Amino acid sequence: MIVKLTIREIKSDEHGELENFLYEAIYIPEGQSKPPRKILERQELQVYIKNFGTQAADVCFVAEVDGKIVGACWSRIMNDYGHLDDETPSLALSVLKNFRRKGIATALMKKICSRLEKNFKRVSLSVQKENSAAVALYQKLNFKIVGERGEEFLMAKIFKPAKMI
Ligand SMILES: CC(C)(COP(=O)(O)OP(=O)(O)OC[C@H]1O[C@@H](n2cnc3c(N)ncnc32)[C@H](O)[C@@H]1OP(=O)(O)O)[C@@H](O)C(=O)NCCC(=O)NCCS
Repeated sequence: MIVKLTIREIKSDEHGELENFLYEAIYIPEGQSKPPRKILERQELQVYIKNFGTQAADVCFVAEVDGKIVGACWSRIMNDYGHLDDETPSLALSVLKNFRRKGIATALMKKICSRLEKNFKRVSLSVQKENSAAVALYQKLNFKIVGERGEEFLMAKIFKPAKMI
C-alpha cells in the first residue's frame, strides 16, 4: 500500500539516480533476462543521462514514496531513439516493478507534459512496439504514433498545433 506519493522535480544531487531508472526503462521482452548493467555505458544510452541538468530541455520529475524514489520521467533534446527534431524534447520513463499499475507513470507524465508545454510545441518518445503496457499508457495520454523504426514506434504529443489557415 502506498502511504504517501509525491511527484516532484528531481534535486541536482539526485541526478545519479537516473542511471537506475534508465536501466529500468530498458524493455525486456517476456521470458528474457535483463542485460548486464554495463550496457549503460553505451553511447546511445549515455545520451539520456550524461551531464543531465545542463541543457534547457533537461527536466525531470520523480515519484517519491515514503522517502524513496520509485519512478522517474525525464526529458532532453537529444539524439536518442525518440528524436524528432532539434526543437522537440524526448522522454524517458520508468517505475520500479513493485510500484507499477498504481497510476505513478501517468502522474509523472502529466506533470512533465504540463511543464514542457510552456516552452515546447511538442514532445516525443520511442517505445518498443511489443511494450504494450507503455504503448497503452502513452495512447491514454494522447500521444500519437508518428513513425516507425524497426521494432519501435516513434510517438509524439502536440501541445501547440500549427494554426489552420
Ligand atoms: C510502462 C510503465 C512506465 C508504466 O508505469 P505504471 O506506473 O505502472 O503506469 P500506470 O499505473 O500509470 O498505468 C497507466 C495505464 O497504462 C497501461 N498499463 C500500464 N501497465 C500496464 C500493463 N502491465 N499491462 C497493460 N497495460 C498497462 C494501462 O492502460 C494503465 O491504466 P489502468 O491501470 O487504468 O489500466 C512501467 O510498466 C515501467 O516502468 N515499465 C518498464 C520500463 C518501460 O517500459 N518504460 C517505458 C519505455 S518507452
